[in-house]
Amino acid sequence: MKVAVLGAAGGIGQALSLLLKTQLPAGTDLALYDVAPVVPGVAVDLSHIPTAVKVEGFGADDLPKALKGADVVLIPAGVPRKPGMDRSDLFNINAGIVKNLVDAIADHAPEACIAIITNPVNTTVAIAAEALKAKGVYNPAKLFGVTTLDVIRAETFVAELKGLDVEEIVVPVIGGHSGTTILPLLSQVEGADFTQEEIEKLTNRIQNAGTEVVEAKAGGGSATLSMGLAAARFCLSLVDALNGEDDVYEYTYVEGDGEDARFFAQPVLIGKDGVKEILHYGDISEYETKCKTEMLDGLKADIKLGEDFVNSPA
Ligand code: NAI
Repeated sequence: MKVAVLGAAGGIGQALSLLLKTQLPAGTDLALYDVAPVVPGVAVDLSHIPTAVKVEGFGADDLPKALKGADVVLIPAGVPRKPGMDRSDLFNINAGIVKNLVDAIADHAPEACIAIITNPVNTTVAIAAEALKAKGVYNPAKLFGVTTLDVIRAETFVAELKGLDVEEIVVPVIGGHSGTTILPLLSQVEGADFTQEEIEKLTNRIQNAGTEVVEAKAGGGSATLSMGLAAARFCLSLVDALNGEDDVYEYTYVEGDGEDARFFAQPVLIGKDGVKEILHYGDISEYETKCKTEMLDGLKADIKLGEDFVNSPA
């Protein structure tokens, strides 16, 4: 098994690579790629950690080598938010970065599962899909937008508010990955009752949790450590599933039947060939239905922006 991290020298990339070095199954190869000249050093640094995961660093000219034989490619490359920005402000820079990296994946690792972390995820996943399609290698079962951070935040906040064991809490989060497109399904949380006021406050906090971090870092970027953990959790699930483990479920932003939007975060059963089954998110409350209806046009516009970026560039 080989896992490649593109953007491995960044805030997320380094935290993620550290977790993968310590938690991937023995024998896994971990390829770290970045355009920043520090990336070989990050790889050497990690290589001194005593685990049976082999780490190698690849600089700007070595993307094909980093990708060769990869089973999983994680993409946290790109610029993060600063205070006052929302995720769509990142589009101008990050769209091109994701498109170029995905083109290279199509050429050098067309069979790999691709997990996109780079924001705006609502749009960058659509860019990746269209770029892969243009190269004739798009497999919807192998393209994922990573929304795990929304799930772990929701679980943390609910556990805090209700005094529950965070290890036991499950909070489904569906939709997209920005603002109101992030829709936590608090009506489905077992073992906790909420007043309508609590539901509205919590929903709002989960939707804007990224901004909490951006403001607290005061210009120093967005979530990197919690995101590193979230991406590692998603990657480890993917690797388990590819290795043949049954019952691997994650909430992730994938192309499904289009009932709500072409791409939609929902519960997914992952198997040895990627998405095995996209599950329906089940019954939702009146309030959640209203939130979903109100955000769908925005989510669809985000997706269209990505499709147009590849198919009808300005
Ligand atoms: P960062 O600036 O610390 O790191 C980004 C890294 O990408 C840098 O090392 C940079 O050299 C590298 N990079 C830039 N262009 C590249 C290219 N063409 N090829 C390879 N590497 C390249 O940023 P950070 O904080 O790690 O965030 C990365 C991305 O993740 C941002 O777009 C951010 O918005 C997004 N993000 C996504 C989250 C999610 O839930 N999906 C949560 C938090 C951030």
